[in-house]
Amino acid sequence: MASTSETRIAMRDGYYNENCFIQNAAVKGALDILPAYPDKKSLTIVDYGCAQGANSTEPLKAVLASLPAGATASLVFEDTPFNDFSTLAKTISASLPTLAPAERNITAHASMVPVGFFQQVVPTASVDLGVSWSSFNYLSHQPTVALPATAAPAEFAAARQAAFASAAHADLVHLLQLRAAEIRSGGHLVVALGGTAPEGDGETDMPPSTTGFMPLQTALMRMVGGGQLALGELMQFALFPSHERSPGEARAALADPAVAALWRVDSLQPRLVVHPAWEPYQAALGRAEAGQDEAGRKEAVRAYAEAVVVNLVAASGWFWADTLRKCRGPEWHGENAFLEEFTRVAIDECVEKFADMKVQIWYTYIRLERRGA
Ligand SMILES: C[S@@+](CC[C@H](N)C(=O)[O-])C[C@H]1O[C@@H](n2cnc3c(N)ncnc32)[C@H](O)[C@@H]1O
Repeated sequence: MASTSETRIAMRDGYYNENCFIQNAAVKGALDILPAYPDKKSLTIVDYGCAQGANSTEPLKAVLASLPAGATASLVFEDTPFNDFSTLAKTISASLPTLAPAERNITAHASMVPVGFFQQVVPTASVDLGVSWSSFNYLSHQPTVALPATAAPAEFAAARQAAFASAAHADLVHLLQLRAAEIRSGGHLVVALGGTAPEGDGETDMPPSTTGFMPLQTALMRMVGGGQLALGELMQFALFPSHERSPGEARAALADPAVAALWRVDSLQPRLVVHPAWEPYQAALGRAEAGQDEAGRKEAVRAYAEAVVVNLVAASGWFWADTLRKCRGPEWHGENAFLEEFTRVAIDECVEKFADMKVQIWYTYIRLERRGA
């Protein structure tokens, strides 16, 4: 039986912008499906779930470059009220002059909206383009999976998958209805949705998504063994409120009659996004091997492990910290110390046991056009 509770979501304050490597690679994969606006004098864009803004700049720059000289753009940066809006404000302030180059006389005006995207966040029919980068996978509520204590891990995994998939379908339908209220007829929504591999045709083998979470999982077990974490706390960590959809699950939400009446699907493409640290890592390993440089090899392994682990902790640290506070009580303030230790142990685990792990995630890239009202 599944029930739900509301979630508090925020990337790790002050860390995310510097460590959002794979999310940056995911954004780059969307640049060729962004619409262009050569005739538009005034354009409104909303970046849904923008976090601290590091990955907002590149796509906004690409869209603004398509505007005619003299145009005005209104840029709305949206995230939950728990987001680090202070870092976001500094990121916007630094990037705004580069987004709208003065020589083409394009002006850009920014605003920040601290309202979660499971509500309408801007006025009806006020938006030309909505974008969501690595954000619509988060759920509105944390489904809880109630099973007898005697349930086997495989039973728990199956029950979790069923509860989360069903919540994710309802959430995506709801999100698309909300965005349809905000985005004008003829406007677009472009989404990069992190998830699982495309359903195979039975003949072609697709590599699975490898998020890089394994060394974190074994680090948590090591911390349970070392008494730094209780087993009950570890179990709660399995309920991270995100669902990694397959392209088929995304298609099913788009085919829901409540959605299909509002949105036309311009394109839907699965693409495999490789962690940007992987290629430099392979090159460094090759150089070390050629020079029989054992110290260089060790350095390369550690640098890759660090890039993978800090990326995951920057994006998910809030959840572990909040879960521990729930378990340990409001007086507990050990989150930073816990995350530092966890990061250290996970990097060691990655170096020792997962040096060959190629982190790569399937994204479903979707471009939708709002049908006429
Ligand atoms: C992995 S980050 C991606 C951030 C950014 N778009 C990027 O590409 O780097 C996911 C973002 O979605 C936001 N998010 C999750 N649930 C949300 C909700 N209900 N409303 C608004 N933002 C949400 C998180 O707070 C976080 O900033």
